[in-house]
Amino acid sequence: MSDEAGVLGAHGEGTVSAAGSLVGGLRLPADKSVAHRALLFNAMAEGEAEVTVARPGEDVLSMAHVLQTLGAVESIGEGPADFTRVRLRGRGTRKAAVLPGAGGETLDCGNAGTAMRLLIGALAGRPQSATLTGDESLSARPMERVAVPLRRIGARIVTEDGHAPIVVEGSRELAAVEHELPIASAQVIGALTLAGLAAQGTTTITSPGPTRDHTERMLAWLGAPVRREGYVTTVEGPAGFEARTIDVPGDISGAAAWLVAGALHPEAHIVIEEVGLNPSRTGVIDVLRDMGADIKVASDGPTEWCPEPVGTIIVSGGAPLRAIDLSGDRVADVIDELPLIAMAMAAAEGTSTLSGARELRVKESDRIARVVEGLRAIGARAEVRDDGWVVSKGTPRAAAIRTDGDHRIAMSFAIAALTGVAGTVEIDDPACAAVSYPTFWTDMEHRAS
Ligand code: S3P
Repeated sequence: MSDEAGVLGAHGEGTVSAAGSLVGGLRLPADKSVAHRALLFNAMAEGEAEVTVARPGEDVLSMAHVLQTLGAVESIGEGPADFTRVRLRGRGTRKAAVLPGAGGETLDCGNAGTAMRLLIGALAGRPQSATLTGDESLSARPMERVAVPLRRIGARIVTEDGHAPIVVEGSRELAAVEHELPIASAQVIGALTLAGLAAQGTTTITSPGPTRDHTERMLAWLGAPVRREGYVTTVEGPAGFEARTIDVPGDISGAAAWLVAGALHPEAHIVIEEVGLNPSRTGVIDVLRDMGADIKVASDGPTEWCPEPVGTIIVSGGAPLRAIDLSGDRVADVIDELPLIAMAMAAAEGTSTLSGARELRVKESDRIARVVEGLRAIGARAEVRDDGWVVSKGTPRAAAIRTDGDHRIAMSFAIAALTGVAGTVEIDDPACAAVSYPTFWTDMEHRAS
């Protein structure tokens, strides 16, 4: 990581006040959506591969440890600098993707919803059973959205009233069917795609709206007969694919913290390198630009190490921000960045609205409740809507922020304080940032002065 910026102590872990300036270069921890898939798909593939993950968040380590329990991970070792290198040996063949294991395992997914949902699909076609568990937050999140379509194809999945712990009993025979999904979810599409690789015939999955396409992109790159056209994913099964070494790019959702910080702070110039620029994830750049932010992007395209475009983003502060109305398909493109975008809404001229984002209620916390409560506490005007919020500027003040252990809530209000949109804030659980961004607090100290 480049580290040319000044250091100061006022922005310690959990207690944050306004910085005089925000300047420096950053490389983000690895993208967790891509890292989960790089690890899991290589565990199901034929052959050996290494997955390199910069400063993995706790969610990614949960996936690596689950795959170690299943016998697909040979080592989780330190690479150069602060990169972690996971060596995998898949047990699949080119004819059949297989998740190994002896059966009867208990697989702890921690806080990682993506890990749990993808694993349910990956385990569905395996003959042996396994039990998936998670922490308190993950155990409250809806899992029938994955279990219902998987049962239709012959999988045997038992949830506890729709939640974890989940028992995947395993099934030798899965049917290839046409799925019409009631909600747009990349995790559900990913789970059904993996199960489709174990089914005989053509599986099609039609989504009601846009979702990130990392599953289809990576599986096709590994040689699996999977493709996405518009909102339809098609899988020809049974099929397998070959393991391939992957270098996971930096996390655009982590970068979003610095894009918002750079846009809000008048004395900001931040350069973010080697960040993933998959078009289904870059909506936050478009939204901030539409609000008036000065953001430049240079894409290098996909590399030989990863089928995702990678590039550099530069954000400079000082441009006045205007309000925005977000609804429809635009919401899916920024679903994980909405708490941060709410901080920009609280700094903009005019009244901003968000609608069509009911999914925020079932993320790591009820993000609609936590964002609006926190915004009011820091002096902004904010109202809850069933599927979103209405936000405008107020008079910044100091506040204590309740996160419910949600990493994105913790980071969003830290950025609000750093940029003066809030007075000094106390985050109740600063350590939760490590779920996706373990170096968040040190990156903040190194870039603020
Ligand atoms: C993810 C998909 C999104 C996103 C989540 C990660 C993924 O959820 O919010 O943080 O890696 O597939 P959906 O499954 O609702 O699209």
